[in-house]
Amino acid sequence: MTIKVNESAKEFHLFNENISYIFRVLEKSKQLEHLYFGKSMKHRDSYKHLIEREIRPSSNMFEGDHTSSLEHIRQEYPSYGTTDFRYPAHMITNNEGSHITNFKYDSYQIIKGKPTLNALPATYVEQEHEAETLEITLHDAVLNAKIILCYTIYTDRNVIARNTRFVNEGEEAFFINNAMSTSVDLPDDQYEMVHLYGAWAREGHVETQKLAKGIQSISSTRGASSHVHNPFLALKRADTTNHSGEVYGFSLVYSGNFLGQVEVDTYNVTRVMLGINPFQFKWKLHPSETFQTPECVMVYSDQGLNGMSQTFHELYRSRLARGYWRDKERPILINNWEATYFDFNEEKVLTIAETAKDLGIELFVLDDGWFGERHDDSTSLGDWFENTDKLPNGISGLSKKVESLGMKFGLWFEPEMVSKGTKLFKEHPDWIISTPNRQASHGRNQFVLDFSRTEVVDHIFKLMDEVICKSKISYIKWDMNRYITEAYSATLNSDQQGEVFHRYILGVYNLFDRLINKYPEILFESCAGGGARFDPGMLYYAPQTWTSDNTDAVERLKIQYGTSMVYPLSAIGSHVSAIPNHQVGRMASFDTRANVAFFGTFGYELDITKLSDEEKNKVKEQVAFFKEKRRLIRSGKFYRMLSPFESNETSWIIVSENKTEAIVGYYKVLARPNEQYNRVKLIGLDPTKLYKIQGTSATHYGDELMHVGIILAGNYTDRAAEYWSKEHPSDYSSKIFVLKEV
Ligand code: DGJ
Repeated sequence: MTIKVNESAKEFHLFNENISYIFRVLEKSKQLEHLYFGKSMKHRDSYKHLIEREIRPSSNMFEGDHTSSLEHIRQEYPSYGTTDFRYPAHMITNNEGSHITNFKYDSYQIIKGKPTLNALPATYVEQEHEAETLEITLHDAVLNAKIILCYTIYTDRNVIARNTRFVNEGEEAFFINNAMSTSVDLPDDQYEMVHLYGAWAREGHVETQKLAKGIQSISSTRGASSHVHNPFLALKRADTTNHSGEVYGFSLVYSGNFLGQVEVDTYNVTRVMLGINPFQFKWKLHPSETFQTPECVMVYSDQGLNGMSQTFHELYRSRLARGYWRDKERPILINNWEATYFDFNEEKVLTIAETAKDLGIELFVLDDGWFGERHDDSTSLGDWFENTDKLPNGISGLSKKVESLGMKFGLWFEPEMVSKGTKLFKEHPDWIISTPNRQASHGRNQFVLDFSRTEVVDHIFKLMDEVICKSKISYIKWDMNRYITEAYSATLNSDQQGEVFHRYILGVYNLFDRLINKYPEILFESCAGGGARFDPGMLYYAPQTWTSDNTDAVERLKIQYGTSMVYPLSAIGSHVSAIPNHQVGRMASFDTRANVAFFGTFGYELDITKLSDEEKNKVKEQVAFFKEKRRLIRSGKFYRMLSPFESNETSWIIVSENKTEAIVGYYKVLARPNEQYNRVKLIGLDPTKLYKIQGTSATHYGDELMHVGIILAGNYTDRAAEYWSKEHPSDYSSKIFVLKEV
């Protein structure tokens, strides 16, 4: 059992071997008081001793005495406007314009396993014993409305997943202005906030800042989770490192506008919340209707940031990702985007596919430019009909030819968009998101279709289905290349325009669901101009995501390192591309480009027909290496060791579950003459096991590799030094070490 209730005091304790989460019902006001979230504690019959109260003069009273002010009580799902002055987790406005609510504890129920969320992605269980769920029902008598707080604790994961439902049981509609997925009040402020920020081609950069008094936040207002911030934040202690120390991770399973906010009040209490961004959000809840928030996954780790990341990785890999491809080895792909951009024809792409096939590559992906008159990015989105000048045999013919080579075929779509001048635009000019009497801003020359409307989603499904059903398609890259502006839906009432962003993303999820249901064996890779929608919501539908349009190996060190804070390697799309690199002009070696791309789903994105014989042989070796190791790469434990944000070196390791095998990636950005001695200390190995470093005769016990490390300038005749001397000194050098138990 993982949830215990002290009935008379109404104290709730969710716990497993590693974590505890405790809260209670306040005796008089029936509000919920948060008591503890952290390392597991033995269950007790009473938690009265955890209640903290100070006499605080000049406080407003909620229950008739000076210690009852909600301003001074740590809460579970706070409101604003009674006696708490901090930012609230929810806000409702009724017909009279009042936003005061008083949701009091009503009842609870414990459910075995984990219920699904209506129309939204969420983590799940396969067997009931994997988790237990506590639902707390709160009731507001004036509104006649309920809030149901849903907490799932996994039996053997350091995870509590929260979501909230609002139910209107009254006779009148009301407006939800704010509906966070989670809110936690932590007792002190001695934390650093870690989050991922970026821009196009610079996603996933790790930012760490000491908490300041007041509010600090990350958010998106762009209609997608965005390049700028990822829907994730962590609070770590100042001395927490990758390997040790306390950290709380919060990750939102959602792909639209979000807010992650941390407020430190004047008593150093830290309120952290995550959910749909209340900015531009207003949801009209009619009588008998329910509003469901997305899920927030909360992880506690006392094993540093790696401990937190590994919990996210394992959960997202096995209980968020779903379907046919979840546990399967992903095909090594070649994508023609950086090879040809829009300039291709059947012959050219078939030559690429044929060459790739000879080198062992398994899937050919045809990117943008196969439809309408799409010769550049100014036209044709929405006209999902083959351009027969480029592809005389259509997608159907091409896909069959690729299959007959013994390869799988994949195709690019950008389902949510439309270009002016297309058949789709001419027939349905009112289907774009735009505000009456205002300009409709362009982004990459395209408009966003109003996916909050069912008929739009229906139509796009039909168009895509027509292409897919007559072809042999094993993979779809689902792209999305602009953010939403002038958000407004032609079919929603004026008082429902605050619903557009959320309804839009529900439409996206709906189209995904329909395609997956009809074509369960298609592997989806999500993409949004690279990583603008690299979020857990997308992973529920597409088990892998194109991480960034930046394919440079050195840039990718930071991008992939940051992305690994939350997301498993099985989700991280990573390709070897040409040099000079198309984004930054860098000339990283072929080895280094592959040595970075191995730590992800792996593939190529270059004109393989132009490679020299020597390079082609390297491709063969790399492909063979990845095929041999991909199981370990997908399912092993990933640890970050040296951070590209802190030094010239980056290093990480994947260790197999039974610790008999490991792969180390080591990268040095700039070469330095007469270098200091460098070592890379490994982690996660079995200290007592004897490991051999592949390609050498050297053996080392795990303890030595972890405490001393691999000595990179070692005086060995047959190992690193020899290998190293070939590449040394040169910029962007790298090395993969494969360790196997002897
Ligand atoms: C943006 C994607 O991230 C690229 O990989 C490529 O698919 C282009 N769009 C195509 O327009």
